[in-house]
Order: sequence, then structure tokens, then C-alpha cells
Amino acid sequence: MAEAVYPVPAEWSRNALIDDARYQEMYERSVSEPEAFWREEARRIDWIKPFSVVKQTSFHEEDFGISWFTDGTLNLSANCLDRHLVERGDQIAILWEPDSPTAPDRRITYRQLYEQVCRLANLLKARGVRKGERVTLYLPMVPEAAVAMLACARIGAIHSIVFAGFSPDALAGRIQDCDSRVVLTADEGLRGGKKVPLKANVDEALKACPGVDSVIVLAHTKSGVPMAEGRDIDWASAVADQAAECEPVEMSAEDPLFILYTSGSTGKPKGVLHTTGGYSVWASMTHEYVFDYRPGQIYWCAADIGWVTGHSYVVYGPLMNGATTVMFEGVPNFPDPSRFWQVVDKFGVEIFYGAPTALRALMREGDDWVKKTSRQSLRLLGSVGEPINPEAWSWYHEVVGEGRCPIVDTWWQTETGGVMISPLPGATPLKPGSATRPMFGVQPKLLDNDGKEIEGPGDGCLVITDSWPGQMRTVWGDHERFFQTYFSTFKGTYFTGDGCRRDEDGYYWITGRIDDVINVSGHRMGTAEIESALVAHPKVAEAAVVGMPHEIKGQGIYAFVTCNAEVEPDDALRKELIAWVRHEIGPIATPDVIQFAPGLPKTRSGKIMRRILRKIGENDVSNLGDTSTLADPSVVDNLLANRPQPV
Ligand code: WT7
Repeated sequence: MAEAVYPVPAEWSRNALIDDARYQEMYERSVSEPEAFWREEARRIDWIKPFSVVKQTSFHEEDFGISWFTDGTLNLSANCLDRHLVERGDQIAILWEPDSPTAPDRRITYRQLYEQVCRLANLLKARGVRKGERVTLYLPMVPEAAVAMLACARIGAIHSIVFAGFSPDALAGRIQDCDSRVVLTADEGLRGGKKVPLKANVDEALKACPGVDSVIVLAHTKSGVPMAEGRDIDWASAVADQAAECEPVEMSAEDPLFILYTSGSTGKPKGVLHTTGGYSVWASMTHEYVFDYRPGQIYWCAADIGWVTGHSYVVYGPLMNGATTVMFEGVPNFPDPSRFWQVVDKFGVEIFYGAPTALRALMREGDDWVKKTSRQSLRLLGSVGEPINPEAWSWYHEVVGEGRCPIVDTWWQTETGGVMISPLPGATPLKPGSATRPMFGVQPKLLDNDGKEIEGPGDGCLVITDSWPGQMRTVWGDHERFFQTYFSTFKGTYFTGDGCRRDEDGYYWITGRIDDVINVSGHRMGTAEIESALVAHPKVAEAAVVGMPHEIKGQGIYAFVTCNAEVEPDDALRKELIAWVRHEIGPIATPDVIQFAPGLPKTRSGKIMRRILRKIGENDVSNLGDTSTLADPSVVDNLLANRPQPV
């Protein structure tokens, strides 16, 4: 079957920053003359001291290292704020839409944002926060979250945002790992009409974090949470006492900017570290080109700041580029499934960037919820976080965008800092489900399992052969793990963990993770993390977790659980384990299926044969492959006979 191709609309190729010829020419130059290319692109940043060296990078063990614009200095907060004040001080920087459509919205200009950032930066300094120190942010989707990020960047503190849906345990682990002394939070968050007890979670987490001496608490719902004398500080009254000017600290390009924890194939989340110069160039450049962005356009990325998408495309990229960026506190289906499109109409959103999981959930509610809104302001749509299935793509294109708006399907990762493979709306003919072509400077390759390159069309492991400015620089506190995780599987290249197909036109089609990572509603989860949560339960002896296809979430969580000998597994225990995992990690890790199993399929050397469990999870059991090396092949028959119905 010939796949559908959507040509670039004529007005897009005419008016866009980059048309197809320009893409080809720039891409070619970015890989053949990277020094010259990046020297020019880096002009988008106001450097305090210009860099002389562009790039010193190697993915090889002998001289491993990644460093960009090394001797240049800059401040990212100044690049997001100060330099806009003359030209666009009175332009709205952040348009904030609350959870409830009847609550008041907030419109914050660049000048107001600048002042709020300076005041908080001064408060942090007053609490003794120094350059290089880690500050943990556990905040709802409110403008103060952006203020907090920028205030840290202003004084050179390294922010570590923990998604507000994570449990006290998960929060404590992240505070301990990066050794934060200061935490910023709110009394409560609000999502879909439900309250999230953020301050109570912090109090619980801090029982295990004796090093934390300051908690700055935003009164958001004003519920009147208990405050610990000497430790807890009321945000609003404390910043009111601070000056509205704060000199930005001069940062070296390779000084750390932020840590963001993400899941890998081992139990412990990794602290992904991004640095200042390269990340800034990458976030700004990709935001401008992928969204064909011009200053002042109303732009909405519907991601939470707890994920990298929120870092790069709600806050840093857009603000560097003088955007009006929408921040939404709520969820797509509250109070009803028209909510997204009502917000689009209310603010006149031109560019909308969201996740396939939300689109699939809304698609199921029917077209009327969309069609009763106007959406005439929309010109461009984006997709991020997981593969978008052609059905959801078509719905997005035809129903939401009325066939008028190109869709940029952007593939990237927490580790990459910004978009790596994506169409450019004025340059790239679209194929539903394909992230299409590489961004400037990105050199993808497909390798087979033995590391042999697949040329031309084919399917393989996706690697990137040379560095790009937005690349992560290390795993916080574990540089060896950084090297081992990404550069040791295939020597001399960055391994993404994704499988990928390349077609006859050189388009890339991400097929999903090929490691023990699953993607649940666009949230990345390590199966090992869920397993360790399960085995921490007193009745559980062993657990193995795999992904399963899920209509809305993309992937669901399928857990095989072996109980201790004296335990009779039943439905009550199933419910208890589900609640347990939610409590240990957070609601995003809720198992969809728990199958009790007297034994797991293991090789004679005791290794769980995950391949078999994955097939059962995928309900693809006609050919389980070779099971002859199993210690006890009858275990598989038992698993097959006792598959539960999804809960
Ligand atoms: C993993 C990274 C992208 C930032 C948010 C998620 C999957 C991401 C796509 C896409 C297919 C995608 C990959 C990747 N992924 N975007 N457009 N098409 N798959 O960042 O949490 O670090 O997850 O998300 O599997 O490796 P993340």
C-alpha cells in the first residue's frame, strides 16, 4: 500500500523561515562544516564573553568528552528576559490558564517576569544558595514554576524539577541524589478539579532528607498548610522584601544548568545533566525552526514543566525567542473534552504542541467536542513523546487542524535537550507516523544488533554518530554510568535506546524502545523501577514488568508477580499492589494488569526470559520462540493458561 504523503502547503514554503532547498543546504553545511555552522547559529545567544572554540567532542572511550563553546560565557535567564526588555518589555511572556475555566487567568509581561525572577533570585541568595548548588522544584503548572527555573539560572544554581505527580518517596530519592538543601513547592496543586497535596508530600519526603534547611512554599490554593518554623518560608511575603533587580551571574558555557531525572533500564532514575551554552543554542534554534517561530506569536506547548518538553518548549526555547508562551495548569478533559480547543480560542493560539496520548483520549470522545470550537487561529500542530499512530495523526490533521495545519512529529529525548528528528513545516512533506528528517547537526544511523550499519532503507537500532550542542553532558554523580549507558553498546556512537526504520525517502520512523524502558502516556518508565517497587511489598517474592499495547496510553504496564510461599494471591491483593505502586512511585506507574504467577520463565542460569513475558504482554503468543533453554518450560504453560483480563 502506498503511504499517504502530505506536501508542504504553498503558503508555507513561500513564507516559512526554511523551505526545502534551504533545509538541504543548511543540513549539508551543518554536517560538513560544523564549526562554521554552529559559530553562526550561536549568534542567537547574547554571550557575555564570546567563545573561541566551537566543539571538542568524542564518543570514544580513549578521549571521551563533550564540550561546546567552552570558553564562552553567558546567562540564560538574561537571554530569556533582560535582552527583551527594551523591545518587548510590555509584551505578554506567559499566558497562564488555570485548571478551572471559571478561575481568573494570568497574563505576565516580560518586564513583570523579569522582576519576579530577580526577586526570587535575591531570596535564594539570601538563603545562601550559591552558584553550582542544586535546588529542587516540586511545583504545579503555575507561572512561579517558570520564575523558579529562571531565578536558579540567574544565580547559577542548578535546578532539579521533580514532576508534581511523583510520590514523596520518589521526591526524596531525587532530593538525596543531587543533595539539595533548598526545595520550592506549593501548598497544593490542582488538576482536573482534584487537589494534589504537594506540601504534605514534601513534608513526608523530608523525613528522609535531613539536609534540607529551606522550603519556599507558594500559597496557590491558599489551603493554609502547616509551616515548619525556621525551615518553611512563605514565597509571596518573602519575595516582597527583596529587590526587583538582580545581576545575572556570568556562567561558563559548560557550567551546569539543570538536572532532570529520567528512567533507564536499571532501577534507579538517572540525573540527566544539561549545561548552559549548548543547551541554550539548541533549545532556541530548534524552537525557532521546528515551529517556524516569529517573536510575539501565541504559542502553546501543553507539556508539564516536570518533563524535558516543559523545560525546553514551555520555558527556555520560547522565552529566548521572545514568545508569548501559554502555560496550562489543567488536563485535556476537564471540565469537558473541549477544554484544549477552548483555550486555543480564548488566547488565539497559533501553534499547538501536544502528546499523542491526549489526542487519542480526546479522539475517543467524538468530534463534536472539537467542532464546537473555532480553532481558526491555529496554523501549526506538533506532536511529542511517543509514536503517533496514523489514526490519531489523521484525526489531529483533519478534525483539529481542519486539514490546514502541518503537523510536526518531533522525536527526541530528555538526554538530547531538544528536537532531533522532525519535519520543518515549510520544508518537509509529511508522512503520518514518521518523524521524517534529522535536525541540523544530527547524524542518525541505523545499526543491526552486531553494530553493523544498515544503509538505505531498513530497520535497526537508532544511534547518533556525532555530538550536537544540546546533548546531555553526564549523569549527575556518575560519569561512568553516562558512558556505559549511552556509548558502550555500539562503540563510538550515542545509542538512543530506540528502534527505528528508514524508508526509501530517507524518512525516519521510530518504532519504540528496544531496552527495558516503556512509554506510558508519553511518560518514560523503567520496568526495573516498577519491579523494585513491587518486590518491596512484604507479600511479593519476585516481579517482572513489561509493556503492553494500550489504546489510549500507547503502552500499559503488565506486571507478573510471584508471591511469597504462604500467600494466597487474590483480587484484594491485586488492588493492594496497585495502590502500593501508586504510593511508591506515583499514579503514572499504576499497573494495568497484574498476573500472579507461581514462577517466572527463567534460563538455567536464573535469568528471566523477558522476551516471553513481552510476547504475553503483547498478546502475541502464537510463536514464543525457543523455550528449550528454560529451566522449567511448564512455567510458560501456566502463564498462558492464567492470563487475566485487563483491569
Ligand atoms: C523517548 C524519550 C521527547 C521529549 C519527551 C519524552 C519516545 C519521544 C517521540 C516521537 C516516537 C518518541 C522515544 C524516546 N519518543 N518522541 N515523536 N515518536 N517516539 O522524553 O521521557 O526522555 O522519552 O520517548 O522512545 O526514546 P523522554
